[in-house]
Amino acid sequence: MTTPETEINAAFSPVYQQALGLIEQIEPRVAAATRQELSDQRASLKLIASENYASLPVLATMGTWLSDKYAEGTVDHRFYAGCRNIDTVEAAAAEHAEALFGAHHAYVQPHSGIDANLVAYWAILSQRIESPTLARLGAKNLNDLSHDDWEALRREFNQQRVMGMSLDAGGHLTHGFRHNISGKMFEQRSYGTDPETGLIDYDALRASAREYRPFILVAGYSAYPRRVNFATMRSIADEVGAVLFVDMAHFAGLVAGKVFQGDEDPVPFAHVVASTTHKSLRGPRGGFVLSTPEFDAAVDKGCPMVLGGPLGHVMAAKAVAFAEARRPSFQTYAANVATNAKSLAEGLLRRGVRLVTGGTDNHIVLLDVASSFGLTGRQAENALLDAGIVTNRNSIPRDPHGAWYTSGIRLGTPALTSRGFGAAEFDETADLIATVLRQTAAQGTSQAKYTTPAKVVDQVQSRAADLLAKYPLYPGLEL
Ligand SMILES: Cc1ncc(COP(=O)(O)O)c(C=O)c1O
Repeated sequence: MTTPETEINAAFSPVYQQALGLIEQIEPRVAAATRQELSDQRASLKLIASENYASLPVLATMGTWLSDKYAEGTVDHRFYAGCRNIDTVEAAAAEHAEALFGAHHAYVQPHSGIDANLVAYWAILSQRIESPTLARLGAKNLNDLSHDDWEALRREFNQQRVMGMSLDAGGHLTHGFRHNISGKMFEQRSYGTDPETGLIDYDALRASAREYRPFILVAGYSAYPRRVNFATMRSIADEVGAVLFVDMAHFAGLVAGKVFQGDEDPVPFAHVVASTTHKSLRGPRGGFVLSTPEFDAAVDKGCPMVLGGPLGHVMAAKAVAFAEARRPSFQTYAANVATNAKSLAEGLLRRGVRLVTGGTDNHIVLLDVASSFGLTGRQAENALLDAGIVTNRNSIPRDPHGAWYTSGIRLGTPALTSRGFGAAEFDETADLIATVLRQTAAQGTSQAKYTTPAKVVDQVQSRAADLLAKYPLYPGLEL
């Protein structure tokens, strides 16, 4: 079937063919790996919840000389000469992001989600700790502080507390955990989920926040299959005098696509929001921050606070992706991501799989493969991969197998929904997953080794290939 997307992809075919031919003459391994990656992606049932397929216009926008320019600073306020074109793309990206999310201000320079979170944390520290200190000491600039005052300020930065979702409940390392710089900057306390329901227990969270009195309350997750009530989170933050920071890296596409509205939309409630652009939002690899007036100026100092020179080519691609997300078709896409996740979850439940929280109402489905199949997440992940199903293992609340082997498999619907999968295809996908895992057995007491009968692997591979053939990736693109 010829759709506008197919026509665009077909028009890009000679462009990519020629570009790869030229690259091949300089470094053939790179050209070969780029071609191979397309074949691999086309041939796999990608259920990694944090991945997607950006459009060819978005991808092509990244491959230009906008990458060659240094542009530290912000629009019309650069530390380098000759930045007018970077100004144009950065302003366009920010304008689209503000309109898309109904945000007061957007800062589109962060290179990734981690960077966006760091910009957010330091903007909050700068605004709520540094600025009042400078005012109290009558200093205009950090360089005006004496050595002792500066050291006292540095200690104060380091004494702040954050509260974020625990890792096994679905939180992210950047929410104050020790292996990330956020854990080295802040003292941290986690909130978990209710042991019975698997859902956030807002009363328990409120009680814990009252006791701990965090400086920043972090909402957001990587593996929680449910929506969050941001109005309640804000009321908790206000009650304890905390700043509400929402990391919507995972579910930004559902916010942009108006699936999360009212209390489920973080933007009206958070002081600062950070996000990636490449997950459910389907843009280039990168990040951005949205702010309320109090934090706008501090957020804009992300470079040089924690970022190097902005990536002009990626900001340009963000502008294209945000423009795409403002089209009505993106709202249809986002709605499909959520209904497809329900179909996948129901398909798995019907086939006897235990799901954390018993289902989903976002884009994530989290399987408990330990209690469902007697497997670790690692065994299940590899058995599924053998059959051409790409997922990732993930901890589940109170995980008996720890963070490395885990007891869970996390699935997400954004990527396959971009290929055109609907409810029926996700039900079939549920059947393929259950078929593989039911027939996979742990080897002895090993948490890593497993066996799946070769016949099952072959059958599932061929059924997955049939399914994928109906929904080609980048239809019309020929290399
Ligand atoms: C909630 C959340 N925040 C931040 C990040 C970091 O994003 P990036 O990998 O782009 O740095 C992730 C990515 O996994 C995430 O899930």
